[in-house]
Amino acid sequence: MHKKLFIPGPIEIAPEILQAMATPMIGHRMPEYAQLHGSVTSGLKKVMGTGNRVFLATSSAFGVMEGAVRNLVKGRCVNFCNGAFSDKWHDVTRRCGKEADAVKVPWGKPITPELVEQALATGRYDSFTLIHNETSTGVMSPLGEIMAVAGRYPDVISIIDTVSSMSALPIPVDELGIDVCIFGVQKAFALPPGLAIFSASEKSLERARSVEGRGYYFDFLEFALHDDKNNTPSTPCISLVYALAKQLERFAAEGLEQRWNRHRELATQVRQWATGRGLHFFVDEPYRSVTLTCIANNKGIDLKQLKGELGVRGYAFDDGYGKLKGETFRIAHMGDLLPNELKEFIAVIDELTPGF
Ligand SMILES: Cc1ncc(COP(=O)(O)O)c(C=O)c1O
Repeated sequence: MHKKLFIPGPIEIAPEILQAMATPMIGHRMPEYAQLHGSVTSGLKKVMGTGNRVFLATSSAFGVMEGAVRNLVKGRCVNFCNGAFSDKWHDVTRRCGKEADAVKVPWGKPITPELVEQALATGRYDSFTLIHNETSTGVMSPLGEIMAVAGRYPDVISIIDTVSSMSALPIPVDELGIDVCIFGVQKAFALPPGLAIFSASEKSLERARSVEGRGYYFDFLEFALHDDKNNTPSTPCISLVYALAKQLERFAAEGLEQRWNRHRELATQVRQWATGRGLHFFVDEPYRSVTLTCIANNKGIDLKQLKGELGVRGYAFDDGYGKLKGETFRIAHMGDLLPNELKEFIAVIDELTPGF
């Protein structure tokens, strides 16, 4: 039995997308691919609000996150950490042999513009990494205010992870001044995993030109060279590119603004339910994510048991990430999810937890 995914990625995929992936294969050096590639990158530029180059990498998001560090950190990087994925990014930066410091706040808290100001004002850093939406804890940091601070440090390259937020709310890359904006497609984009997308400003490509040891697979300059021909340095996951083209058509049919509104409504729906059930939130307002809600298990529900029972009923449920397992649970409300589907899932949770 297929379990309907309410976990924060991978998420449910529309049947038309799965069908698009069954399109007969083409060669990536054939003109048909260049046409497909050009059409998806121009669609992505609209979704991302950017005139920068947009690249497709056949990998999960961490491939490009590692690539960004290898291409862009010349001196020293600061990694802002407030959860599992941002903590990991610091580890990755160090493992790539780069000088890096972590600025850490407790899990569940946002990265604030003040923290970013304090770090960048030291003059020690030529780059920083930040996760807009920390999926492990459901915290959305105030990207607009943070980028306003970053804009005062034009020599510092901003590397922003929008893995679990891109397309769920407006993230106008150029208006915000983001140098490199990275996301995987298996979250709010609602595609199967295996493709990472990133935009790169001219400034970031200029930096890459002066950095040694960029490797090959994620060399941003290789991506730029091939982008001129609407292509990729190595064989891309063409089936997923077909899926992406179909998904961009579906975004246009729904309308981006409607997509953003739907995500807001879904978030409100879960929050109202949690409040009504007397559950507490792991994250304070206004930092609660619009794509997933992390709920504190203040009622002492046996989450492992609930997960098992939901599984039997045909739903995949997340009983907390890493060290938060059992203490919190996360409900994902992103991608193509509709309010009545969420309502149905919540009703099953209610039915399975009558005494709480
Ligand atoms: C915010 C965030 N960044 C990075 C990652 C890592 O992405 P991937 O598993 O696609 O490498 C995830 C995965 O859940 C994530 O949620």
